[in-house]
Amino acid sequence: SSRIRTRDLLAAKERGEKWPMLTSYDQYTAAIFDRIGIPVLLVGDSAANNVYGYETTVSVTPEELLPLVAAVARSTSRTLVVADLPFGSYEAGPTQALETAVRFMKAGAHAVKLEGGVRMAEQIKALTGAGIPVMAHVGFTPQSEHLIGGYRVAGRADQAAAVVADAHAVAEAGAFSVVLEMVMSDVAAQITKELSIPTIGIGAGPHTDGQVLVWQDMAGMREGSGPRFVKKYADVAGVIAAAATEFADEVRGGVFPAEEHSFR
Ligand code: KIV
Ligand code: NA
Repeated sequence: SSRIRTRDLLAAKERGEKWPMLTSYDQYTAAIFDRIGIPVLLVGDSAANNVYGYETTVSVTPEELLPLVAAVARSTSRTLVVADLPFGSYEAGPTQALETAVRFMKAGAHAVKLEGGVRMAEQIKALTGAGIPVMAHVGFTPQSEHLIGGYRVAGRADQAAAVVADAHAVAEAGAFSVVLEMVMSDVAAQITKELSIPTIGIGAGPHTDGQVLVWQDMAGMREGSGPRFVKKYADVAGVIAAAATEFADEVRGGVFPAEEHSFR
């Protein structure tokens, strides 16, 4: 069957259906998530932390993300693939944003995502004007971590109005959906009710249209505990550690390879 389109997500909202989104950065996870029916995959700039081992997303470049986008797009047939525009690749203005977004679309993305609300309205208009669907991202925006002063919940009493204004600004500029990160649940509920485009929550409570998690957090690929909004559905790190330990033991003990793994 054919690809999920942005209009399918709008239709889901109209029917009151919630939907899941995950990050993916490689062939195998992309193929699994596509097969089990995750409608939207994000090749997040969180690849900075989850693929490249950087401390923050500030470090990652388009050159590092583009091949991951291409791999995920090649490995899926149903899911809508969204590419994050990394820090420094779109903030200067609509021209820079369009140049970068075109590179990601040519790599195989079906939409792009960028961080910022009111301050990104011109970029969102330029991209949608050029035929590129935009997923916005407001509330806590990790690329601005140093300005914000760390990971902080957005939309507490003093900031609620600003987050609501940001969400309305991106919808008016033409975004097809908006990620709400670490936004107080009641504020996320209000935004979800007021906007006609889908909201996708991460640490934003149960009332958003979609929910997104980083796949390594969701599947327990990362060792140690993550932020409070993460739920760990498996212990993939433990499974891999046990497999590698057994392999190592069998090599050291002369058990692997056995007759059936050998040619003679
Ligand atoms: O890069 C990322 O993984 C994200 C999601 C968590 C929304 O932006
Ligand atoms: Na991101």
